[in-house]
Amino acid sequence: MENREGKAVPQVTFPVRENHEWVNITTDELFKGKTVAVFSLPGAFTPTCSGSHVPRFNELAPVLKENDIDDVICMSVNDTFVMNEWKSDQGAENITFIPDGNGEFTEGMGMLVGKDDLGFGKRSWRYSMIVRDGIVEKMFIEPDVPGDPFEVSDADTMLDYLNPDAVKPLDVFLFSKAGCPFCAKVKGILHDRGIDFEEVELNRSQTIRSVRAVTGADTVPQVFINGEYIGDSEAVEAWFSNAVAA
Ligand code: BEZ
Repeated sequence: MENREGKAVPQVTFPVRENHEWVNITTDELFKGKTVAVFSLPGAFTPTCSGSHVPRFNELAPVLKENDIDDVICMSVNDTFVMNEWKSDQGAENITFIPDGNGEFTEGMGMLVGKDDLGFGKRSWRYSMIVRDGIVEKMFIEPDVPGDPFEVSDADTMLDYLNPDAVKPLDVFLFSKAGCPFCAKVKGILHDRGIDFEEVELNRSQTIRSVRAVTGADTVPQVFINGEYIGDSEAVEAWFSNAVAA
């Protein structure tokens, strides 16, 4: 795997399906006059790519864009129909998905590898890069070890390179229940601060038993911030008061 820092990206035209029409997108259109974050991975809908690589780039894309990046591109050796479905399935609105179906861009980057053992044929080695006006400024190439290492091509590593002091969005999760006033209160606190969150709303199959198993508590809401168990609405209010005071 060759490091291509300082070199131009390959010149490629990608046929892309947009609104039921074929559109040709060139590398000039993607890169000329812009600073672009690219991450390239072995395949759409695969576990690490779908569970971690794409979601975190989508979460951090707004912060990357506050730190010099004009666009975030996810590249894979897959066709445009697959890439479009994957983007929709991921809800990855902050990312441009580019189908390198023929592997031309990936080959030009020296990153085309055989994954015949998995029945994948030729795919992209996992890497990311920052491209300024068509020139590769920085590459994060996964180590050349067997399997599918995922250590350096992630969104956090790229953001830390661009700005180690960048403020990352809080990672908030909560258990809630429809009609619960304290759940509405917590969600109001989060909305007022513009904080995105993920929630499990209890229902017949996901009951208070899940909450008890995870938190030991018998009530909702129960909130986690950055992986830390915070507690109910009062605990959340106190957490934000302390965060402001700190
Ligand atoms: C994964 O993303 O987990 C994956 C990628 C390529 C092959 C198998 C798994």
